[in-house]
Amino acid sequence: STINLQEVHDFLVTIAHRAGEMITSAKPRQTDAGQKKNSADIVTETDQAVEKMVTIALQEKYPDFECASIPPPLILPIALTNQTPVMGEETYQPGDKLSDKPTFIVDPIDGTTNFLHGHPYVCVSLGLAIARTPVVGVILNPFTRTLYTGIKGSGSWITDAEHDHVRLPLRVPEPLPDLSTCLVAVEWGSDREGNDYEVKAETFRKLCASKESGGAMVHGLRSLGSAELNLCAVARGDLDVYWENGCYAWDVCAGWVILEEAGGRMVGSMKGDWEPMVEQRRYMAVRAGEGQTGVVEEFWGCVAGRVEVG
Ligand code: IPD
Repeated sequence: STINLQEVHDFLVTIAHRAGEMITSAKPRQTDAGQKKNSADIVTETDQAVEKMVTIALQEKYPDFECASIPPPLILPIALTNQTPVMGEETYQPGDKLSDKPTFIVDPIDGTTNFLHGHPYVCVSLGLAIARTPVVGVILNPFTRTLYTGIKGSGSWITDAEHDHVRLPLRVPEPLPDLSTCLVAVEWGSDREGNDYEVKAETFRKLCASKESGGAMVHGLRSLGSAELNLCAVARGDLDVYWENGCYAWDVCAGWVILEEAGGRMVGSMKGDWEPMVEQRRYMAVRAGEGQTGVVEEFWGCVAGRVEVG
């Protein structure tokens, strides 16, 4: 039998809207947040409730499929076997690995910290990866009612209030010549000590410093708090570069498809790393298309050491 990526896409859109209603109707209180590894790594009851709803819906709809490769463009062969894998942020166990099977990758709320504080840079992120390659991405910011979606090989789209909720193709603007004209997103993440923290802090300093003092003097740095929305922002052109180390698969899967189908590119965050893999957890999203290496090389020149996220 086969799986139709367009149909998966359409179903994920339905689920995303259902999740969006749960997110916008919740009233989280800062004192109710649960901590994961530390006080900057948080989870709310809404994260858990959304992940549960999404997982049940996906497993009901796609009870059992398995696939090892991605023939183009939309129709994939599948063998009906055991339960559809779903990797979700709130049910992930250390050591869980992505397999080559079609796997739904879910972040019920990306931007949990923003959600908790009433800041609207929040989304639900639903992706499908096959052979560990992201192939479908659906990202909804339920507060701004902006929907981004993408299907590998077919394109990516935005639906928002500004365009009367008419679905429009996403296309990254022309690449910029150098970093000094870029608006750059970075994230601190939740690890706040040790080598990686020092490398990040020094990298951010170099990006902002004047050229005379050895920096890149970017137009500005932003730390907005949702990895997936950062990827969408690069895809739509209102951020030029996004660099982060330590993202998990659910932070990047859906946005990766959307970015690349819009003509942007995901590369590794460290020097010479053109092919990021989900396991490496080091990412840079650039507006530049294939062959536009200037901004990437310049950025790598600012990376102040080796980030060791495994
Ligand atoms: C986090 C956000 C944040 C990024 C972290 C993610 P969460 O996801 O995307 O911007 O810096 O790496 O873990 O916890 O809000 O789902």
